[in-house]
Amino acid sequence: MLEAILLVGGQGTRLRPLTLSAPKPMLPVAGVPCTTHQIARARAAGVDHVVLGTSYQADVFRSAYGHGEGLGVQLTYAHEETPLGTGGALRNVAEHLRSGPDDPVLVFNGDVLSGFDIEALVAHWRDARADVALYLTRVEDPRPFGLVPTDAQHKVLAFLEKPSTPEEIVTDQINAGCYVFRRSLLDEIPAGRPVSVERETFPGLLQSGAHVIGHVDTSYWLDLGTPLAFVRGSADLVRGIAPSPAVVGSNGEALIHASAQVAADAQVSAGSAVGRNCIVHSGAKVLGSVLMDGVVIGAGAVVRDSVVGRSTRIGAGTHLHEAVIGDNCDIGAHNEFTSGARVWPETALPDMAVRFSAEPA
Ligand code: GTP
Repeated sequence: MLEAILLVGGQGTRLRPLTLSAPKPMLPVAGVPCTTHQIARARAAGVDHVVLGTSYQADVFRSAYGHGEGLGVQLTYAHEETPLGTGGALRNVAEHLRSGPDDPVLVFNGDVLSGFDIEALVAHWRDARADVALYLTRVEDPRPFGLVPTDAQHKVLAFLEKPSTPEEIVTDQINAGCYVFRRSLLDEIPAGRPVSVERETFPGLLQSGAHVIGHVDTSYWLDLGTPLAFVRGSADLVRGIAPSPAVVGSNGEALIHASAQVAADAQVSAGSAVGRNCIVHSGAKVLGSVLMDGVVIGAGAVVRDSVVGRSTRIGAGTHLHEAVIGDNCDIGAHNEFTSGARVWPETALPDMAVRFSAEPA
């Protein structure tokens, strides 16, 4: 028996406005929520009990998954009335665990898409008799990340904040958002107050002499925290670049729900995912994008590397490039949204030839 905790209580501010109507881990990537992909992978690695650490929009998880009947695992919920941070959430979840004090417990950040070998991480923790094993990945540009240098025996030497000078880039290894904890350590995290696992718990464990190891795995890894990463992650799943047992029905270039209608001369490709009851009209192009349920794309419109929220209509000839359009919008014809432009839900815009960009003109 192996237990896992999924941290899914964050507000997902970087993905607004999409996260106004659904928590980030429940937004569809390649047709199903990131949480479903993660639980499917955890189950394949032998996990049979998952505790979701919820806070923001917790009901969405409960109504989607119940007790886990459709997922093949037992699902329990640990709710935080006020968010307790990544470490406080672990302490809050701990009382729902069934593992013994020395058993391994897996922890996943709820917004990470990865093909790493979960069983190898647990085996490494066990073989090294570690207190905590962190899944680390290597990135070309580590500047936006906290760094985790290790020694030749994989022992973590430090948890370093984002580097601000070239000298501070002492390694390309970063915390990839999945850990194995000895269960008793989760019980020792302070209760009832916000705690950051990255900034407080891990450095504290190092200081107290705990045996913390890094497990480097360089398979597919992506943090879905930003709109561009979100569409890329979805497209990678659709194209099979990111592995997940939960992707069903992709033709390798697109995943189109059976109830969607796509005109014969429209193009849906580059890993696009098209939700329930969507309509893509004649001559439109949907490339590397995510259309949530009930979206209508007008004739000749071009949607590239963008996300379109539920029940939104995009007018004929409108161009979206790296844009995020919220739910229930009515966007007129011949508009242009580029470079990170975001449109809030329920927005109505008339037909016009105007360019909206998040970049200064
Ligand atoms: P941003 O607001 O865009 O940074 O997103 P976020 O709120 O999801 O924060 P972040 O990406 O740093 O969180 C990493 C993971 O931890 C995500 O899966 C979050 O859902 C989760 N998380 C963050 N804070 C909390 C919290 O206070 N409680 C719980 N239960 N989970 C949290």
